[in-house]
Parts: sequence; structure tokens; C-alpha cells
Amino acid sequence: MKLRLLPIVALMLPLMALSAEVGDVVKFDAPPQKVGRDVMQAFANRKSGTSFSGRPVPVKDLGNILWAANGINRPESGMRTAPSALNKQDIDIYIFDQKNVYKYDPKPHAMNLVVKGDHRSLFTERMKTPVIILLVSDVSKFDGGGYGTEDDFRRMGAFDAGIVSQNISIYCSALGIATRVRASMDGPGIQKLLGLSAKQIPMLNHAVGYNK
Ligand SMILES: Cc1cc2nc3c(=O)[nH]c(=O)nc-3n(C[C@H](O)[C@H](O)[C@H](O)COP(=O)(O)O)c2cc1C
Repeated sequence: MKLRLLPIVALMLPLMALSAEVGDVVKFDAPPQKVGRDVMQAFANRKSGTSFSGRPVPVKDLGNILWAANGINRPESGMRTAPSALNKQDIDIYIFDQKNVYKYDPKPHAMNLVVKGDHRSLFTERMKTPVIILLVSDVSKFDGGGYGTEDDFRRMGAFDAGIVSQNISIYCSALGIATRVRASMDGPGIQKLLGLSAKQIPMLNHAVGYNK
């Protein structure tokens, strides 16, 4: 009986909602070559979501959003879909859903469980979105090398987060997925929950889901 069920479960994994129990490591499929609308339609339709239905985001779509956000698009060099100041690749991505918090790991294109539980209330969550994608800049990556002051590093981190954010917005628009970027969140609470240092700064977060 078990042997018969296993392949069916494996086939269903990409379709499962993010809230499903898919283990401590969620490995995504490679991103497809082509999806959704073309880029001009994605720009024409881009807008911030205002009310979300609560419908879960399938794991497959989440994987594609994360790759578009800041995945590796040149495996030979490890370079990313989003540029970053001095190529410091300072933006880390965390995913909050109703059951867990994960961190995106671009090399295996997977996400790893970091904290159990629903912590979406750290994001002044009025809209009840199924997924929140958090962008953290690790500004310590700019330390040394005489590149500038702490203020300069924070600006670089904010720019880098903004670029990743726009990748998310345009990808979501192309797929008809609703998103809203937000600066408001409980930064110190998030740093505490995730065990971040003072130099790992929550910059922006994206509510992600479907329009009501
Ligand atoms: C840097 C930045 C921070 C934002 N912060 C918030 C926020 O904290 N809460 C919120 O509801 N929307 C936030 N927004 C979304 C804006 O309100 C929204 O983009 C703006 O009203 C324009 O609407 P549009 O995105 O549909 O064009 C933010 C947008 C940006 C670019």
C-alpha cells in the first residue's frame, strides 16, 4: 500500500500549498523558461494588492517567485537575478506562512525551516495574506575594503532590497499573483525571532497571495 502511495505523493508535492507539511527542507523545481504574461503586460498590470483571499500559494509558484526575486541565474558564477552593490549579495530572503518560517537557499534552490509557528503578526498583518516574504540586508557584507561608512552600507542594503522587491512585484504581476511591498513591520521583533545581528536589517516585506 505504501509503495503505491509514494509516487502519488511525490507527484502532488509541487502542487501542495505552502502550509502543507512538506518537511524541514523544501526543494523547488528548476524555474520554467517561460511563464505567464509577457514583460510589458506584467508592467501594465503591476499594482499593490489591497485585499487577499487567504488562498494558499502553491509551492511551485513560491519557488518561482523566490528564483525571480534573487535566485541564481548564472550557475557557473553564482550570480543572481537581482544586481547587488559590489556584488555582495547581501539580501537574504525569509518566508513566513501560517505554520513556519523558512530561509531561501539559492544554490540548491530550496528553503530551509528556521522557526516553527505562525509569526505573521510581526508584519502588522491586517490583510491575512497566506505568505509574507521578508527581505533582510546583511550589511556586514560591506564591512572592510574601505567601501564607505555604516550609513553608506545601509543605503546599499536598502537599494539592493528595493531591486529584489521589484523582481517579486513584476514576477507576481506576470502570473496574476497579488503582492504588496511594505516597509512596516516589527524590525526588532523579527531580528529577535530569527536570531539576526544588528547588521542584518529587515528592509522590506511582501504580502503574497491572491486577490479576493
Ligand atoms: C518602500 C515602500 C514601502 C511601502 N510600505 C508600505 C507599508 O508599510 N504598508 C502598505 O500597506 N503599503 C506599503 N507600500 C505600498 C505603497 O503604499 C503602494 O506602492 C502605493 O500606494 C502605490 O500603489 P501601487 O503599488 O498599487 O502603485 C510601500 C511601498 C514602497 C515602495
